[in-house]
Amino acid sequence: MKVEAVRGMTDILPEETSLWQYVEAEIREAVALYGYREIRTPIVERAELFARGVGETTDIVHKEMYVFPDKKGQLLALRPEATASVVRAYIEHGLYARGGVAKLYYLGPMFRYEKPQKGRKRQFHQYGVEALGSLDPALDAEVIDLAWYLMERLGLRREGLFLRLNSIGCPRDRPRYREALREYFLPHREGLCTDCQRRLDENPLRILDCNGHTCQEIARDAPRSLDYLCEGCRAHFDELLGYLDALGLAYEKDPKLVRGLDYYTRTVFELASRDLGAQDALLGGGRYDGLAEALGGPPTPGVGFAGGMERLILVLGEREPGERCYRLISGPRAYLLPVAEEEKAEALKILAALRRAGISADMDYAGRSLRKRLQVAVQRGARYALFLGEEELSRGEGKVRDLETGVEEYVPVGELVPYLQGRS
Ligand code: HAM
Repeated sequence: MKVEAVRGMTDILPEETSLWQYVEAEIREAVALYGYREIRTPIVERAELFARGVGETTDIVHKEMYVFPDKKGQLLALRPEATASVVRAYIEHGLYARGGVAKLYYLGPMFRYEKPQKGRKRQFHQYGVEALGSLDPALDAEVIDLAWYLMERLGLRREGLFLRLNSIGCPRDRPRYREALREYFLPHREGLCTDCQRRLDENPLRILDCNGHTCQEIARDAPRSLDYLCEGCRAHFDELLGYLDALGLAYEKDPKLVRGLDYYTRTVFELASRDLGAQDALLGGGRYDGLAEALGGPPTPGVGFAGGMERLILVLGEREPGERCYRLISGPRAYLLPVAEEEKAEALKILAALRRAGISADMDYAGRSLRKRLQVAVQRGARYALFLGEEELSRGEGKVRDLETGVEEYVPVGELVPYLQGRS
């Protein structure tokens, strides 16, 4: 029997990885401009981290987390997201002692046992940023500006995107809001899906992000968190809106947006694509001012977002790759065509010299006819074919064919590097 990949966990093949690398490189450069430095945390964490951080009653922890005991019976989890891990590392390594705002970013695989569909996988990849150590709404605005900048940098049109924004207040506002939601949903209990009936008892906020049609209908006139904000949260939200206006960043207030993770306080947002259908959130984030404390650290406010690489690639996939992407996905610059076994050693030496000079070069190891090899060179997108026949080599030369123009020249072997370097 053939062994296949696990459902929802996909291979990313060479023709796709070039685009991934391009997008990753753009992300790294963009976040560096905003002062973020990379943090790499383990893929496996104690399950408790997410139960306490993300919340026991969230779908992510309750239904979707991969949990397993290790050989000593310690309950571990494949990380379903990275914010809790980053905050854990921030506490564990005392990064707060360095003063100022800690700006950390990450890229990597996350795992959720969800129903796989377009733009939704069980192993997926997130890029994300976390800024820890400030309550200033200007930082929320900067984080949202970074989200927009990333999209712009990747060439996505602003008109194809929109930002959903809400404030869900602080833990002091929450009980009143929760109560209001409970009161509102209680008469509709029977109409709710079984999950939402449970949510009604455990955490009625979660009903607002249920995808079920009937639940959404029922939730249409539900109380809005914005009407339950304390003075401080109200002022924070208003200030944020002021900064977004000043930056010229569009947003749509979305009173239903509560996000599926329990750590959020105040600001929550999602940047969505109009071209993605049901799974339209390219990225999502918000503030989590109580998370560090919940994980046993010093009280530290935080704000950040994470986006799904798969979705980004999906929306980018339909576009012309940028110049830089083109450089990454173009094939070898030179393709060597040794005619016989005897020329192979010389060919290997030339390959090594070209590569050391920064010229990408390759040759065919599959031992096909010269015509086939030339076809492969063209297929790989090589610009120059280097013919190394017995005759040419006996004169200390190779024949270079420009595959774009068809022009051929004989070049002394020792001058191949400067010859190719001199050509754009
Ligand atoms: P999240 O909304 O759960 O937030 O995930 C963020 C993004 O990851 C989503 O908007 C989506 O693009 C992508 N994503 C989530 N699940 C999947 C999946 N199964 N397949 C493909 N893509 C997916 C968080 O994870 C928070 N940690 C974000 C954050 C950072 N908040 C503050 N800081």
